Order: sequence, then C-alpha cells, then structure tokens
Amino acid sequence: MKEIKNNSFQNMEEQQVYLSRVLEYIKTNKKTQPKACVETYGCQQNVSDSEHIKGMLVSMGYALCDDTDEADFVLFNTCAVREHAEARVYGNLGALKHNKRRNPDMIIAICGCMVQQAAVCERIKKSYPYVDIVFGTHARHRLPEFVYKTIFDKKRVFEISEQESEVIEDIPIHRDGDLKGWLPIMHGCNNFCTYCIVPYVRGREHSREPSEIIKEVKEMVAEGFREITLLGQNVNSYGKGEAHGVNFAKLLRMINDIEGDFKIRFMTSHPKDCTEELLDTMAECEKVCHNLHLPMQSGSDRILKLMNRHYDTEKYYHLIEYARKKMPDISLSSDIIVGFPGETYEDFCETLRMLKKVRFTSLFTFIYSKRDGTPAAIMDDPVSREEKGKWFKELLLVQEKISKENYKDVIGKTFRVLCEGEGREDGFMAGRTDSNMVIEFKGDNTLYGKYLDVKVTELTNVLKGTII
Ligand code: 5AD
Ligand code: SF4
Repeated sequence: MKEIKNNSFQNMEEQQVYLSRVLEYIKTNKKTQPKACVETYGCQQNVSDSEHIKGMLVSMGYALCDDTDEADFVLFNTCAVREHAEARVYGNLGALKHNKRRNPDMIIAICGCMVQQAAVCERIKKSYPYVDIVFGTHARHRLPEFVYKTIFDKKRVFEISEQESEVIEDIPIHRDGDLKGWLPIMHGCNNFCTYCIVPYVRGREHSREPSEIIKEVKEMVAEGFREITLLGQNVNSYGKGEAHGVNFAKLLRMINDIEGDFKIRFMTSHPKDCTEELLDTMAECEKVCHNLHLPMQSGSDRILKLMNRHYDTEKYYHLIEYARKKMPDISLSSDIIVGFPGETYEDFCETLRMLKKVRFTSLFTFIYSKRDGTPAAIMDDPVSREEKGKWFKELLLVQEKISKENYKDVIGKTFRVLCEGEGREDGFMAGRTDSNMVIEFKGDNTLYGKYLDVKVTELTNVLKGTII
C-alpha cells in the first residue's frame, strides 16, 4: 500500500489512501454497515461542501441517514454568518452527549465556518469532550485522514489552521438531488464587508479552472441534471487575477454552449462587480435563467459606505434598470440587513424607499448580528434590539405587500416550468419558473423532471395553474 506522507494536504491523492484504509477497517470490523448523518447549516456553499463530505463518507463505507439517533457518525457542517445559527449548533451538539453515551463507538465531527474561529474551537475542546473531530473550512477534503486518526490513534482531532489550500479537485461527491445541482466555481471572499465574518473564516478568493467547471457541468448534464446553480460568495469576480483570463460572463457563455436541455443559475452577485457585460450575457444566453440575486444590504448611501460595499444606491438602481431593459421578464431578489451599527430610522426609511422603487420578487432579510473580529463589531451601536425588531417587522410588511402585488400580476400568464416534485395538495405537482416562482398544477410523478408550459389561474396560499 502507498505510504502516507505528512504535510501533503494539497490534493486528494493522499486522502484516497486514508479513505481505502477506513473502508477496509469498516468492511472487516463492522457486522452491519455503519450509518452517517450530515447536518448542514447556512448557505448553499455549505450545502455543496456537505455533498462532498457525504461523498467521502459513502466512499469510506458509510450508509447515509437523516436521523442523528440512528447514526454511528454525526457531522455538523456549520455557519458563522449570524449568531443565531451558532446557538443552534451548540444546542444540537449538547443533545448528542446522550447518543455518545448509548453508543461509545460513535464518531462526532463538527466542521465549517463556525469552528474556523479560534474561540469556538477552544469552547468545543473544553466543553464538549465527546466531540471527536473538529476541522475548519480549509481542511474539508481531509475528512478521510481525520476519521482514520480517530479510529486508529484514538485521539481527538483538531485542525483549524489558517493555511489555505488551493482549490482541491476530485473530492468524491454524493449529490442530494438528481434534477437540480450545485456547482461551486470559486471559494472564499476578498471583499471584507464590515459586518461579515466570511472572509475571515473562508479565506481569500480562489477560482476553479474553467476546464474543471466545464467537465463537471458536462458530467451533471449527462447524469440528467436539468438545473445547475453556479456558486461563489461573489461570482462576478470569478477569474480575477487568474492566468486563464476567463471572467464570469465568458464562463457563462462557455457553459451555455454545452449541449443539453438544462438551465443555468448562479449566486451570489456583488453589485460592485456586476457589469453591463454580465447582464448582456444573461440576456443573450438562452440557458441562463433571467433571475438575479443582487444583495443590496441597505438603501442608505451612508450605511453602504460604512458597510464597505463600494457602490451607492444610484449605481445599484442603474444595474436594476439596465437588467430590466435587457430582460423585461427578469426576477430580482436581494439581501437586506436591518440595524447595522449606527443606522438611524432615517437610514432605514431610505432602505424602505429603495424597496418600493425596485420592487424585488423576493427578499432575504436579517437583523444585524455582531460578529467578533469584524470592523462593525467595534462600531457604536446605540439602537436597541427591540427597536431593530420593530423596524424589521415594518420592512417585512412593506415587502409582503410588494410580493403580493407582484404575484397578482402573473395571473393569466403562461410560464415554462421545470416540474421538480409534488405540490402541497394531493394530486398536484410543483414546478419552478426561470424566475424562481413556484406554480402548482394537477398531475402526477410521471411529470417529474419535465419542462412544461403552465398558465397561472389563481393565487391562493400558492400560485396555481394548468398545463397548456
Ligand atoms: N448580520 C446579519 N446579516 C449578515 N449577513 C452577513 N453577515 C451578517 C451579519 N453579521 C447577511 C448579508 C449577506 C447574507 C448572506 O447574510 O445580507 O448577504
Ligand atoms: Fe460577506 Fe461581503 Fe464577502 Fe458576501 S461579499 S461573503 S457579504 S464579505
């Protein structure tokens, strides 16, 4: 068998050796196939990372399950973006103590953005002694090595070094779906928005090679995937500083040229790097959905500056107008933070004003959460949580009204949808439009995975329609 060299963590070749050894161990020592449960918190990037984690676990001989009570291996893939997500992880980790008591051979692992923070790692080390493996975002591909060490060295593993690896290819994958799939095109973030922990826990931007991305899209299309979502913290800066000279717009064109009946989505776009070239490309590429998630964060220029966002509301609105001119059917969504340190009610009203002007199809809204180590964490924050809560409710009401009006506008119109599963009512299936709206219509499972033309007939608590 191949020798394992220390400190050679930059590719999957070394990990394959650990992987085979764990597989061999499981095959010879376990009477029944052990089960692994992976719980994912946070963004789509984490969902995608978890698909690779599941891929490695399956290759090591585990069967996947959804219930921590049944599992011999539990892994939490965590998020650090807001405090609330961290609190949930601590709560769920606490509950695993009883599982470990019942099943002492069980392995408990925690990884991802949250544990990349030194203070969190220390807390787990001290207060959760039954956690076996802790590893940060830069070591995600080294799971086989960590499982091997837990089994054979019987020691706890802590690996949260800040040493960034280049992009690692060829990590096994077990995709959650068979119709819609995630495809990361880059990792990390260089933007340092002042409220955000991501650049500290995920490190600097690294783009994957266009050839690797194209190869993966082709594989997914051949496997029957109908919708591929390209992922990155800021996809608009794809390829910056790389020798291949392919920017995001060019990459979209290359993927659009791949043969097959599939659609392309992407997230997230940073307004500072969103160009007319990109919007032209979206309009010209028939496989790219006319759907843009463009986080505005705030409608106050003063707050945008404090957030270090590098655009103002004028530039933002210009992008919206340009996108709508080129793609009249485009649907737009956004992220908004309420209660950034120093935000006044007047600043907040500016955000409301922008929401009414832009009229997003959907909105992801967050109350500011202080993240230690970020510049915003030491800014003056005089407004109480209670007050921010009131603003937040006010914002939700404004958006609810806009969303309802937007939905009413689509009654009577016909859309091409991808049938992606069962509807809420018996006998109904659900389909998603390019613009990310869900329409339910009469039908059965034979329609799954098909593109259908559906005419919207009514709005109850969901949009309903009939197949044309
Ligand atoms: N507090 C609240 N929301 C945040 N986001 C990022 N950091 C914070 C924070 N500290 C939001 C932003 C981002 C989305 C993914 O999460 O709106 O776009
Ligand atoms: Fe965070 Fe800003 Fe990077 Fe998005 S672009 S991950 S909000 S720092």
